[in-house]
Amino acid sequence: MTPQQIELVKSTVPVLKEHGVALTSYFYKRMLNNNPELKNIFNLDSQESGRQPRALAGAVLAYAEHIENPTVLAKAIEHIAKKHVSLDIQADQYSIVGENLLHSISEVLDVPFESDLIAAWEQAYLQLAEILINVEKQKYEALSAQVGGWAGWREFEIAAIESTDAGQRFTVKPTDTEALLAANTGEFISVKVKVPTHDLHQPHQFTLSDSAEQQYQFVVKPEENHTEYSVPNILLNHYNVGDRVTVSAPLPTR
Ligand code: HEM
Repeated sequence: MTPQQIELVKSTVPVLKEHGVALTSYFYKRMLNNNPELKNIFNLDSQESGRQPRALAGAVLAYAEHIENPTVLAKAIEHIAKKHVSLDIQADQYSIVGENLLHSISEVLDVPFESDLIAAWEQAYLQLAEILINVEKQKYEALSAQVGGWAGWREFEIAAIESTDAGQRFTVKPTDTEALLAANTGEFISVKVKVPTHDLHQPHQFTLSDSAEQQYQFVVKPEENHTEYSVPNILLNHYNVGDRVTVSAPLPTR
């Protein structure tokens, strides 16, 4: 990026932050309208109930603030990459997010899409995307290289559902006969379910409550005041022993 581009980007961060809600809602609405397949990976429950995390756009703004010294955000990048890997986010999806984010910035700032300002933001976004794509690639490779490990989604069957004081404990086992990556209690997995009322899937992260050979266990608690997209409620109300879910490989919480 040129020094002028860096200045342009930095000078617009405060006003974008001020309009964070507008930026985020415009961004998600635009992206999910144009790319409805992404409804299968973004959390629609928090969108519908108004609890949509502003995290994604917020992280781009935070990065732009520190664009001259991106190492400031190293911890955040590690955290985001882990979440993305748990959701099987792919490098080619970055251009979709980028395009929609840049259009949203142009809309919120009321500047033409074909302008020096948006071109500068494009460079900033590409820089951050490249960092994330590389960290995520390393994580996918590391997971695939471990015994019983895998990258992306793997089919599991619900082997048991038991009542405990903490909630319903689900035990899941892979439907294939391959080895299963040994996990530690406290690590997290994403579990993807079919939404009964729509032709859609939704993922949710669960912390592993126990690890035994060839199976994972996690506790599911009902969520009050949530929408039909709440994965815990779908699991509790619509899934039984023998049903299948897809699961991503365990990752450490920190
Ligand atoms: C430079 C680009 C990106 C940045 C800075 C970014 C940042 C973030 C952050 C900060 C979070 C929240 C992490 C947490 O839970 O604490 C997040 C979550 C997430 N990101 Fe990204 N992200 C980027 C690109 C992408 C792309 C390309 C996709 C795929 C289309 C994606 C999909 C998701 C999803 C599905 C979540 C979980 C949030 C939800 O369930 O609604 N992100 N991202």
